[in-house]
Amino acid sequence: MFTTVTNQELIRAAIEAMGRSYSPYSHFQVGAALLARSGKIYQGCNIENAAYTPTNCAERTAFFAAVSQGEREFEAICIVGGKEGRLESYTAPCGVCRQVMMEFCNPEKFRIILAVGEEEGQWKEYRLEELLPLGFGPENLA
Ligand code: THU
Repeated sequence: MFTTVTNQELIRAAIEAMGRSYSPYSHFQVGAALLARSGKIYQGCNIENAAYTPTNCAERTAFFAAVSQGEREFEAICIVGGKEGRLESYTAPCGVCRQVMMEFCNPEKFRIILAVGEEEGQWKEYRLEELLPLGFGPENLA
């Protein structure tokens, strides 16, 4: 089914998730809210590590939470982030997270919402194909 969750609801969920960021090293807090085709929203935050490289981004935390609960189809993700949680500029997904999106999402349809607030004019929306042109995905191995 197609869902009727609004961008504003997703933004609120992402901001709430950012509040759970574990980022004692960078102090850069990130939150994500991933909308599955089921209509459920999966939240994620960045989770850092003293050894640095095990750090997981908010977007991947959300995807892995959702997939581990049985979800495989997704409509949109909202991402918010900033130093100490201050939403001063748009936080775009890193290359690794874009590749994880490519695994589970239709690049022509999957919406990526970057927000600095929940009011009109405080968010921008992209399709995955815009942020990951010529992406390599499961169909390349079919
Ligand atoms: N980070 C995310 O969680 N998502 C992004 O889109 C960009 C970067 C995290 C990783 C690390 O904990 C901190 O932000 C600084 O890179």
